[in-house]
Amino acid sequence: MTKKVTSDRLATVSEYYFSRKLQELAAMNAEGKDVINLGIGSPDLPPAPAVIDALTQHVKPAENHKYQSYKGTPEFRKAFSSWYKKKFRVNLNPETDILPLIGSKEGIMHISMAFLNDGDEVLVPNPGYPSYQAAANLAGAVIRPYQLKSSNEWAPDFNNLENEGLDRVKLMWVNYPHMPTGAGLTNHLMGKLVDFARKHQIILVNDNPYSFILNDHPQSILKFARPDDMVIELNSLSKSHNMAGWRVGMAAGNPELIQNILTFKSNMDSGMFLPIQKAAIVAMEANDSWYKSLNKIYEKRRKLAWQFLDMLGCSYEKDTSGMFVWAHIPGSCKNGGTLSDEILYQHNVFITPGFIFGSEGDQFVRVSLCTPEEIWNTSINRIKNLINHKITSI
Ligand SMILES: Cc1ncc(COP(=O)(O)O)c(C=O)c1O
Repeated sequence: MTKKVTSDRLATVSEYYFSRKLQELAAMNAEGKDVINLGIGSPDLPPAPAVIDALTQHVKPAENHKYQSYKGTPEFRKAFSSWYKKKFRVNLNPETDILPLIGSKEGIMHISMAFLNDGDEVLVPNPGYPSYQAAANLAGAVIRPYQLKSSNEWAPDFNNLENEGLDRVKLMWVNYPHMPTGAGLTNHLMGKLVDFARKHQIILVNDNPYSFILNDHPQSILKFARPDDMVIELNSLSKSHNMAGWRVGMAAGNPELIQNILTFKSNMDSGMFLPIQKAAIVAMEANDSWYKSLNKIYEKRRKLAWQFLDMLGCSYEKDTSGMFVWAHIPGSCKNGGTLSDEILYQHNVFITPGFIFGSEGDQFVRVSLCTPEEIWNTSINRIKNLINHKITSI
């Protein structure tokens, strides 16, 4: 008898969509196809020069290459605390309320492992970032997707959730500004979410990496939480400071929950490279002009993205935040997957099919603003050809 190699746990997930798709795009490029990737939200612009200077300066001393504290240096946590105070008017104690993370994505797994038991239910947004569901599956929890609809301004339907029963629900993921729809976080919604979580004793986690992108009023859910509320927020420098590859994020909120996450995380890694912490401190000291200049670029790109989507016959909302446009496909198209495939295989332009964010995304596609204007113009030209040759799914 041959032994089964993989765990049962592994069967609850599949390789991350983009991990597979990027390999496919690389193979197409190796065949000389020159694929344009309008799909993935990985900022193409560099961090501020002062951030890179800080990294290079701090990479030289030998002692900076040692293992680091599991919870980051005190000055690094203090920088997160000052950033939250300045940007969100939220007071966080750097000693107890903040845990630096190697990117916020790892926080999703740590939180799931720290708080979920087999059979616990987890509310995940549909459409939503696929990692919430994957992490809950790996932790043995039961997924309870909640629908987000344009007709309800992409907010959860609280009555519906209460009618369905919440006794077994342990944790709720929210993500405002929301990816992929770009819906923002209003004071009204923040209040409702915190009240809902308090009433039903649910751990509420807001994943907040997009608050500074095309958003005039960055918000933190922690503004509405009391210190003893079971509320956590994840944040990240990946999008706000063009540092996706650096892997710098944090979890903040209720100190007991933060300590629980550290209990798990300190068994998983051995701290963040000190020069990265030092440079991230400089990044968080950026003044308003940094955020403004970044957003000017995204605004210009978004106009081209709209033009591109208009040519495909898609419809979309304009008053959105974050680095994506979430677009409804034309009625003549079967679904977002067929539209994405057709554009990719006939015209070498990749756009993300909405189904990867859940069943509510089936009739949508998502394009990313992490592409320079000239590439958007090339994409528009390729689509002109596509329309001239009449693609079959439109
Ligand atoms: C909603 C959402 N949360 C978290 C992440 C992960 O960000 P990080 O780079 O901080 O791990 C992403 C990345 O695309 C995202 O879209």
